[in-house]
Amino acid sequence: MPSFPKPKLPDSMVPPPLRKPGKPGTGGTPRGQAPSDLKTAPPERQSAGDKLLERGKDAPIDALGWVDQRMAASGFLTGMLYRKVPKGTNWFYTLGSATLFAFVVQAVTGVFLAMYYTPSATQAYSSIAHINNDVPLGQFVHGMHKWGSSLMVILIFLHMGRTFFFGAYKYPRELNWVIGVVLLILTMTMAFTGYLLPFDQRSFWASIVGININGTGPVVGPYLSDFLRAGPELGATTLSRFYAIHMLLVPGALIALIGAHMYLVVKLGTTAPPWMKAERPKGASPLAQLDAGGNGNGNGRVNGNRVDGAPASGEGNGASSA
Ligand code: HEM
Repeated sequence: MPSFPKPKLPDSMVPPPLRKPGKPGTGGTPRGQAPSDLKTAPPERQSAGDKLLERGKDAPIDALGWVDQRMAASGFLTGMLYRKVPKGTNWFYTLGSATLFAFVVQAVTGVFLAMYYTPSATQAYSSIAHINNDVPLGQFVHGMHKWGSSLMVILIFLHMGRTFFFGAYKYPRELNWVIGVVLLILTMTMAFTGYLLPFDQRSFWASIVGININGTGPVVGPYLSDFLRAGPELGATTLSRFYAIHMLLVPGALIALIGAHMYLVVKLGTTAPPWMKAERPKGASPLAQLDAGGNGNGNGRVNGNRVDGAPASGEGNGASSA
């Protein structure tokens, strides 16, 4: 198990009950001697208002401390936020976070659209027209959701390309790659099911094409297209089904899997770029021409495979540099 470094929190962020008392004789008034200003003028008394203000300033920290004493989350959070990343980390590593941001934007704008959208074959089109024409900022939020879906699809492909070309799918991150593939399928499902929801001519005919393409898949294809169509013809039942998939089924799965994906990213660390060479740790076998791919902390790996039988714990924690 890799152990995360535990950097020291600044004193102001530590809730008062958890602060360590200062060593005797350090800070405050030096022993045996009164401060010079005390000799001349007595310290000003704090007014009730000042005291209240002081307490008000401490309140958020106190509240956080109260929660933390019960959740013990600060260790995890500091470990996550202060974790080391491999040397050579560059802008391509922001594509995953950009995809995550696009997902959050879709979720937030989707909630507002759902407040006005009616998933019925007779009212869906007019409810979208109402959002665009009458609801304050409706057209803006609808536009963000519509363009955001294309952006998320583009970003997810770029992110997948980055992880592929950097060899991040190799041991020990195969599971994260597989989770990523499911995330890709779910994201495409979101884009596909969302397209029908305005229920205009374009979305109607495009969905027929999409459902028919699904039907050409081997073995499960025909069952899948029957399931999606939810009847002999594309109609009201199809809209309800697409709406349920788009609003309930897939977002839930996406959130759960993004959580698992992020957990593995934090646990295993990110892969160093393939052109980075790890420094050989002192005492390591000279046989091992270590590559930095995967960890960068010199754990005895050649091109992703272990060579020296070193214990697997702590692998790939990306701890090559601060
Ligand atoms: C909703 C979709 C996704 C989100 C929000 C997401 C988010 C992230 C984030 C934030 C990271 C860490 C930073 C980075 O390396 O960019 C990451 C890493 C990773 N992701 Fe994704 N990802 C998604 C989809 C995918 C897909 C489709 C794949 C591949 C099929 C994938 C495979 C990976 C792998 C292998 C890593 C580890 C990278 C490394 O070790 O350097 N992800 N993901």
